[in-house]
Amino acid sequence: MTDLNKTFYIKTYGCQMNELDSEIIIGQLEKGGWTPSISEEDASLFIFNTCAVRDLAEQKVIGKVGELLKRKKNHQIIGIMGCMAATQKESLFRKFPHLDFVLGPNNLMDLLPALDNLFLQKKHLIKTDKNFFENIDYTQIKRKSPLNASVSIIRGCNKFCSYCVVPHTRGKEVSRPPQSIIDECKQLVDNGYKEILLLGQNVNSYGKDTPASHCYFPDLLAKLDAIPGLLRIRFMTSHPIDISLDLMHAIRDLPSVCEFVHFPIQSASNRILQKMHRMYSKELYMEKVSLLTSIVPNVQIGTDIIIGFPTETEEEFLETYSLFNTIRYSAAFIFAYSPRPNTFAYLKYPDDVPHEIKQQRLQSMLALHKKIHEEDSQKKVGKILEVLVEKTTDDGTLLKGRTRTWDKVLFPGSPSLIGTLQKITIENFAHQTLLGKNL
Ligand code: SAH
Ligand code: SF4
Ligand code: F3S
Repeated sequence: MTDLNKTFYIKTYGCQMNELDSEIIIGQLEKGGWTPSISEEDASLFIFNTCAVRDLAEQKVIGKVGELLKRKKNHQIIGIMGCMAATQKESLFRKFPHLDFVLGPNNLMDLLPALDNLFLQKKHLIKTDKNFFENIDYTQIKRKSPLNASVSIIRGCNKFCSYCVVPHTRGKEVSRPPQSIIDECKQLVDNGYKEILLLGQNVNSYGKDTPASHCYFPDLLAKLDAIPGLLRIRFMTSHPIDISLDLMHAIRDLPSVCEFVHFPIQSASNRILQKMHRMYSKELYMEKVSLLTSIVPNVQIGTDIIIGFPTETEEEFLETYSLFNTIRYSAAFIFAYSPRPNTFAYLKYPDDVPHEIKQQRLQSMLALHKKIHEEDSQKKVGKILEVLVEKTTDDGTLLKGRTRTWDKVLFPGSPSLIGTLQKITIENFAHQTLLGKNL
C-alpha cells in the first residue's frame, strides 16, 4: 500500500472513555502516516471502536460491520476495537470471516504494529489484554475540541456490579501516575485548553491501587487546580460508596472544580441494590447527597438508572421514581436492563421483567426527568450564570456553552468570545437548553 491511500475512518460507540480512546487511536494513526478519509466508502482502513454495555449498542455495531464487509474492497482493512473486542474476541472472526483485526480497549498502543503485520501477511490478528498496562502516548492525542479535553486518570474497574460488563472488558483498576496527569494538563493549558474532564469508571478510587504515591483523588484535584489558566475541572464517574468528605471539600474549596457530580444511584430499592452489588443502601446514598448539598449548596447532581433489573417489582420501581423526584437530578442516563453475557446477573438471574413493563417504566421515568428539567430550567430564568463559550451553533447564528453545573446555554454574540467565560442572563429555555443574553 502506498502512502497515497493510507486513509482511515473511525466510528465510535459508548462512553466518554471510548471517545477519548478514539482520539488516542487517531493520534497514533496520524503518527503512522495515516490521514482521515472524508467518506466511509473510500477509507482504506475502517475501525469500529465499540461498546458492550447494552445489547442495543452491540447490535448496532454488528449490523454496521456486516453491511461494510459486504461491500469490502480488496485493499481495505477493517478492524473492531473497544469493549466488544474484549467480550467477543475470536468469535468475531467466525461471525465476520473478512474482518482483519480485533484489538481490545487495553491494546490501543498495539494498533500501529498490528497494521504493519497486516500489510506483511494479511491474516486475522487479535490482541485483547485482560488488564491495562500504562503505555499510552499522551503526547499524540488528536483531540476533537480545541477547548475541552478529556484526560484519563484511572482505567478499569474493581467494583463488579452484577449487571456490568466493564470490569470484564477493561480489567482491574490502574491509576495513572499523578505527574503524568499534571504534565498532560499543563501541556493542554499551554495549548489553549480551558476545561478538563477527568475520566475514570470510578474516579474516587484514584490512587488506591498505588498507595506509595500518597495522591488520592482530592489531592490530584488540588494539584490540577493549581495550574494557572485552567478555568474548569470536571470529573466522572463517582461511585456513591466512596465519595468522601475530602472530595466534597475539594469541590467547595478549589475554584476550578465545577459543582456538578455524576453520582449514579441505579435503583432506590435496597433489595435491588443488593442484587446489583452496589454496596450502598438508599439511606446511605441519601446521607451522602445531604452531606454533599450541605457542603456545596449550589451543586447539581447527575445519575444513571437501570430500569427493570431482574425481579424488580412495580413498588420497587416506584421507590426509584420517588427518589428521583426528591433529588431532582439535573442530568440522567436512564436505560432498561440488558443482560450481559458472563456477568453475575446474567448467570444468576433470569431477565424476568417483561419488555413492555420495562418500556412503560422507562417512559414514565423519562417523562419525570423531562418535567423536572423543565421546572428547574424555569427557575433559572432571570439568573446570571457563568458560561464557558465553546463554539457557534451549526448555522453560525448563536454561541454555545455550558454553565459550571453542566447546563447547555445558547446566546447571541461574537465568535471572538469563544474560549472565554461570560456572564449570561437566562431569559428562556427550549429543548433542554437555556437561552440567554450577554450582560
Ligand atoms: N462506572 C460508571 C458507569 C459505567 S457504565 C458507574 O459505576 O456509575 C454506564 C452506565 O450504564 C451504568 O451506570 C449503568 O446505569 C448502565 N449499565 C451498565 N450495565 C448495564 C446493563 N447491563 N443494562 C443496562 N444498563 C447498564
Ligand atoms: Fe460497571 Fe459498577 Fe464498575 Fe460502574 S462501578 S463500571 S457500573 S462495575
Ligand atoms: Fe464504555 Fe461501553 Fe466499554 S460504556 S467502558 S465503551 S462497555
